[in-house]
Amino acid sequence: MALPLLQVALDNTTLEDAINSVKLYGHIIDIVEVGTILHVAEGIQATKTMRELYPDKIVLDDIKGADAGKTLAELCFGAGADIMTAICSADINTMIAMKNVGSQYGEYKDVQVELYGDWTYQEAQQWYDNGITQVVYHRSRDAELAGKTWGPTDFEKIGKLCDMGFKVTITGGLKASDLHLFKEFPIHGVIGGRSIRNADDPAQAAQAFKDEIKRIWG
Ligand code: 5RP
Ligand code: MG
Repeated sequence: MALPLLQVALDNTTLEDAINSVKLYGHIIDIVEVGTILHVAEGIQATKTMRELYPDKIVLDDIKGADAGKTLAELCFGAGADIMTAICSADINTMIAMKNVGSQYGEYKDVQVELYGDWTYQEAQQWYDNGITQVVYHRSRDAELAGKTWGPTDFEKIGKLCDMGFKVTITGGLKASDLHLFKEFPIHGVIGGRSIRNADDPAQAAQAFKDEIKRIWG
């Protein structure tokens, strides 16, 4: 199995901050994420800038699109994103529209479904059957603040999604020291946000994720 990819979420509130941050560890990571917060703060220019700064990396726009899939996808892929996200409650036609626009920009362009709140395996099967094969399993930031930890329900869902054939990315306040919790799963991607950006030494924190990924899944 390929090693899980390391994605860093740039949830900065200014583009200047995001650039200063990513320059510290951009060379270490696999996927540069224009975080939802950065996108809200700075718009599609943030995606264009990350594409320019990292022409050879995967750039992901975490727009969490809910509707108007074609228009959002034209903005995201048009700005150079390789992957954009859709919220799990979006209509399947929104996701299909995003995917269709992506395929006009290149065969590797993709759509990831962000799993929050209520969703069903029946819906997940529908995504998969329509070529939407990537999901992000989330512990929400606000749930984390309210004390939610990773537990058996999360692991059961992650395992089932892997078994269904999804490429599963995990996220939500992850630290390198949490990754062993997921060792039994063929995880596709790991997202670090605050634990890397806000570390005293962000490059060292990104490298710690990389080292731990290699130790667990290598
Ligand atoms: C929240 C997100 C974040 O980008 C993701 O959770 C990673 O950030 P952190 O590690 O800081 O939680 O999409 O909705
Ligand atoms: Mg994000």
